[in-house]
Amino acid sequence: GLSLMTSMATGEYPSPAELPSHPALPDPLVMFDGSRVATAEEWSEKRRPELKALFEQYVYGRYPQVAGSSQPPAVQSKVLFEDPQAFGGAGTLKEVELTLGPPEWPKIYLLIATPNNKTPAACFVGMNFGGNHLLVDDERVHVPETWMPDRYTGVVDNRATDASRGVEEYTWPLAEIVARGYAAATFHCGDIQPDRPHVREGMRATLPEDADDAAETATIMWWAWGIQRAIDYLATDPAIDPARIAAVGHSRLGKTALLAGAFDERIALTVANQAGCGGSGPSRHHEPKAETVEIITRNFPHWFCANFRKFADDPTRLPVDQNCLVALCAPRAVLFTAAEDDRWANPSGQFAVLRAASPAYELLGVDGLKADAMPAADAPLLGDGRLGFWFRAGEHSMTPKDWKVYLDFADRQWK
Ligand code: GCU
Repeated sequence: GLSLMTSMATGEYPSPAELPSHPALPDPLVMFDGSRVATAEEWSEKRRPELKALFEQYVYGRYPQVAGSSQPPAVQSKVLFEDPQAFGGAGTLKEVELTLGPPEWPKIYLLIATPNNKTPAACFVGMNFGGNHLLVDDERVHVPETWMPDRYTGVVDNRATDASRGVEEYTWPLAEIVARGYAAATFHCGDIQPDRPHVREGMRATLPEDADDAAETATIMWWAWGIQRAIDYLATDPAIDPARIAAVGHSRLGKTALLAGAFDERIALTVANQAGCGGSGPSRHHEPKAETVEIITRNFPHWFCANFRKFADDPTRLPVDQNCLVALCAPRAVLFTAAEDDRWANPSGQFAVLRAASPAYELLGVDGLKADAMPAADAPLLGDGRLGFWFRAGEHSMTPKDWKVYLDFADRQWK
């Protein structure tokens, strides 16, 4: 077969049309050349780097090389405000400005809630859609200045306004998270990369323009990198336990959380909330109403590298599928969530992805998903293994009911 290790070294990869078709989800333990991974050492030395390279080349674009280096710049932090008596005195709320490089580069505004009675605390970190100011009614919280879709709450002429402080508290129920003894840290995705195609702004503006680069770092990869930079800071914060960091996100930002977890072993637990195609849903088989590679790459060309689009007609040629992204997280914990009325995000396909990731967990001596059949709606499958599935009634959204399940899952994993 084709040797990917050789092509990785030379920077040459087969074009999508040259790749063989495999209708089934790929076995995460079978190398690109057909040989089988038999030991934990082969897994971490050979297959993990190969899988990461395949996802970079064919799906998300290269892991960011900023200023010509794959070593990320050292993150500088400045506390903008800190309130030790937030949430009725139960927690501390602060916002920290993170500088990632030269002053003209984007900055992350990280809103952090920590419980006062538990230090250091396990921490959920993830991006939000419309800005930190939507999550808490507090005039000290930063309002994003970057471009934003007009359909987001309170946005006028593609800019956030402070008229909508606190209106989306339910998507990140900070008081409830703190009451459960957990910390939460979140920032607006546009801090790193605004969510629109064809514009070189945000971190993309730091790259040279190259129209032919079919594996250029795409938006979801930039976002995942941004979560990792937030963790650079969180790992130094004495209020946070760096051994219990969970990445979380909803939908496009759930795709992002999963990619961040797959590529960063500091992330001990990942929650992909209704993440669907290009995230928790398979590129190969899908429910009749689920989003396809063809549709997602047409509507959101900037989320993925240009190579992913080349699989639109035949995703069975993809040398990876999303189960391999979960496998990259092994032996660390992953929770997928789906909703009955959100067929677009492919609930049964997501369940199949978790099942087909399990061999990597078993190779590493832990259980993956301990179920053979989809659970009924509203019956969380948090199991005894490292993979969990939550399928609830209702629509596409991230709600306090979902957060309760994330926290229950984390409690179990970190008993
Ligand atoms: C669209 C897109 C999905 C995505 C979702 C979201 O529906 O097709 O892939 O997950 O937006 O981010 O809410």
